[in-house]
Amino acid sequence: MQSQPKTSLWMAGAFSAAICLAGAMLVTFGTGLEGISAALAATARLGFMFFLPAYAGSSMVALFGPAFLPLKRYGRELGLAFISVLTVHLSLVTWLCLIGEAPGRSTFILFGIGVICAYAIALLSLGGLRKAMGPGVWWLVRVLGMNYILYAFAIDFLNSPLHGSAWHIALYLPFASLALVAPVLRIAAAIRRADHLLRHSPYRPNDRRKVTS
Ligand code: HEM
Repeated sequence: MQSQPKTSLWMAGAFSAAICLAGAMLVTFGTGLEGISAALAATARLGFMFFLPAYAGSSMVALFGPAFLPLKRYGRELGLAFISVLTVHLSLVTWLCLIGEAPGRSTFILFGIGVICAYAIALLSLGGLRKAMGPGVWWLVRVLGMNYILYAFAIDFLNSPLHGSAWHIALYLPFASLALVAPVLRIAAAIRRADHLLRHSPYRPNDRRKVTS
């Protein structure tokens, strides 16, 4: 019953944090190309910090135990907080276009697909639609969409994370590392779950225990 206001609170909090961060960048670097680019870089990183636990939360529980349960429990809220930050990011993109500095076509294609994935997952996560789709289709939509968004982040963060000034490395290396570790966690968790299922299956090959009917 409390879930609705709690979700709104997460979304409003993330949206406000993104606005403050973008505002700070625009005040510091000006409202031209430099300031808007800095605001885009900052909101992208803030969004990533919400996206990452939504992506890897349940894998962390499977691998490291119940200490990470809050990440799994708040997965939907974290995902919707990411969408809120993304909305501010997209407003900055619109601003960039309005001042005649629109990004190239490839940026629109790469990230545009990410935006479609993000909003599609958010929309389909609504109870009624999710039920209508069935658990299999919902699982597939989430796996494909979340992995594509991670791929879009990784393409950007892996842009020479070890070259340039110390500032450049600080801005890229931690995020690039997290973008690489996240899918490894997902794969490791999937292997652990499969192993667990096999061990506890009554049809385990070479199992000496009798399956009694
Ligand atoms: C899920 C969707 C999106 C993700 C994951 C994402 C990710 C990112 C990341 C990681 C950065 C930081 C770049 C850096 O610091 O080098 C960034 C900046 C930027 N993004 Fe997005 N973005 C998304 C949506 C979009 C869309 C739809 C556009 C517009 C076509 C866009 C245009 C830009 C631009 C122009 C920058 C600034 C690049 C620069 O000047 O360094 N983004 N985005």
